[in-house]
Amino acid sequence: MVCLGNICRSPMAEGIFRKHAENSGLRAIIDSCGTSDYHVGQSPDYRAIKTLNQHGIDISGLAARQFTVEDFDLFDHIFVMDASNLMNVVALVRNEEDRKKVSLLLDEVYPGENRSVPDPYFGGIDGFNEVYNLIDKAAENYLKKLK
Ligand code: 4NP
Repeated sequence: MVCLGNICRSPMAEGIFRKHAENSGLRAIIDSCGTSDYHVGQSPDYRAIKTLNQHGIDISGLAARQFTVEDFDLFDHIFVMDASNLMNVVALVRNEEDRKKVSLLLDEVYPGENRSVPDPYFGGIDGFNEVYNLIDKAAENYLKKLK
């Protein structure tokens, strides 16, 4: 799960996907990171923590890290939150196999529409609730597809 800062959208996606995987008995390694190094080592934004707490998910122990090329080797799939994340991650692919692993998360909800998970950082708590609902739907659809 990749966003810009790894303190709002992608740690939320990590927590939400983990909950869905647990609920459906799927064993998976789910992680998140940011394309930037702005917040490396920091906990998720308090609004992201609060929003997920309301759904019984605890992401308070996560720490931000930056995306690295090694992530292409460690993971089968790399979901990016927006068009800018997509450009930044695709710029690092080494081959077609790496490229095939990368997609916009909201392709799982709105295929072919190139939609982005809106960046909630500069807005209010409503933005975080919207992000929750979008990611929750994406997780539900993706895990259904995997099964
Ligand atoms: P995220 O949100 O990419 O969803 O973690 C942001 C966090 C920090 C900044 C921008 C977006 N920032 O500019 O510091």
